[in-house]
Amino acid sequence: MAMVLGNGAAEKFPSGFLWGVATAAHQVEGGSDNQWSDWERGGHIRSRDLCGKACDWWNSTEADFDLAQRLGINSLRLSVEWSRIEPQENCFSESALQRYQKMLEDLHQRGIQPVLCLHHFTNPRWFEQKGAFLSTDAPALFERFTRRVVDALGRWCRFWITFNEPNVYATLGYVTGEFPPGQKGKIVLAMRVMAAQAQAHARCFRAIHELQSEAQVGWSQHYMVFHPVKSFLDRWVASVQSQIFNEGFLQLMEHGSFRFPFNLVGGGAEEAAGACDFVGLNVYNRFHVNFDLKSAGQLFGRVFVPPDVPQGDSGVEKPYGEAFPGAIRAAVERAACLGKPIFITENGVPDANDRLRPWLIVNALKEVRSLIQEGRDIRGYFHWTLTDNFEWAEGWWLRFGLIALDPVTQQRTMRGSGELYRQIVANNGLTQEQLEKYRQPPARF
Ligand code: BGC
Repeated sequence: MAMVLGNGAAEKFPSGFLWGVATAAHQVEGGSDNQWSDWERGGHIRSRDLCGKACDWWNSTEADFDLAQRLGINSLRLSVEWSRIEPQENCFSESALQRYQKMLEDLHQRGIQPVLCLHHFTNPRWFEQKGAFLSTDAPALFERFTRRVVDALGRWCRFWITFNEPNVYATLGYVTGEFPPGQKGKIVLAMRVMAAQAQAHARCFRAIHELQSEAQVGWSQHYMVFHPVKSFLDRWVASVQSQIFNEGFLQLMEHGSFRFPFNLVGGGAEEAAGACDFVGLNVYNRFHVNFDLKSAGQLFGRVFVPPDVPQGDSGVEKPYGEAFPGAIRAAVERAACLGKPIFITENGVPDANDRLRPWLIVNALKEVRSLIQEGRDIRGYFHWTLTDNFEWAEGWWLRFGLIALDPVTQQRTMRGSGELYRQIVANNGLTQEQLEKYRQPPARF
């Protein structure tokens, strides 16, 4: 079902469209104590930073929620930190749940609808010690936690994202080793982790609906474009890369199993087939791929970013790639096969000086707008992120915020892109001037 577009101007978005920003507990709250804080202390972050106080949300969200209100957004995606709510196995913290209740109430008071994610990369230490999602009782343990959260917070929330980017969690944790537990080359384990997350998702989908009839439950899928340089072999290796990274979890959610022959080793999740009310898409970038006999470790696909394409401050470093608004089209067209409404649950670029972000926002939204006009059921856009925050394996040096943050003084400064986003949200669409001004990426990437 496509939503009704706003009157008149071709650039308007449907009424009721969710305009939001996305955040994650560990990256903004400060002071978390989970497997990621151990990983940081182990010296695994490229910048050697610790997350530290982050945006200090655990003490006060006021500064950021006020700024969110100034942006005029009607929705904010945040997550709960499992290690705060269940610090020891089966011991739940009422005070942590109350803290989240307060956050959700504060959002409602500002006219902002929360979208709550239950798992955004972090695990309580006790769960990690059991083997995390490789432990046989992981789906049941995650369901128990979810029931507790929905029980306590359901009054203030109806949009639930079970897992953020199972494909990133599994690939970076078990294949590239950039995320905890830091395992490398364990493709089969990565598939088993995804299968367990799909099983956990399916249990939670049913549990949440049991507790809340009006609930909308989905997950956030990270989708990257693998663009073949030219030849048939390039196309073949690019499609293999996409199969491995993009398709695994999507297949589980669509059919309950991985595609042959991966289903023979990766396990499955029959109960997950079709178990969602919406698909969330986190879309940032594109990689270029060519066939290369020297890249045996990447199944003969050399994944790279040419120097002359728009790139954020990460340069050509993985996993950030080419800043590519067109990736949204590829992701939406693929996800549409599931036949569910779609939300763009993340899109952004690391860009401390706002060189590219305004161009990215306008062109990403232009793409979303065209897709809606073509009949795709896209119901919201959440920019990553509100305020600069702790960027996982990279640390503090990559700045994704519409608002700049000095993590030491906690001083916040609205970037130009924040002001631009405010105008777009206020207008519920793009103006011809914005489209014209940001038609091309800036000359210097
Ligand atoms: C993650 C965020 C992260 C962002 C920018 C997404 O993959 O969900 O937590 O900060 O990308 O890299």
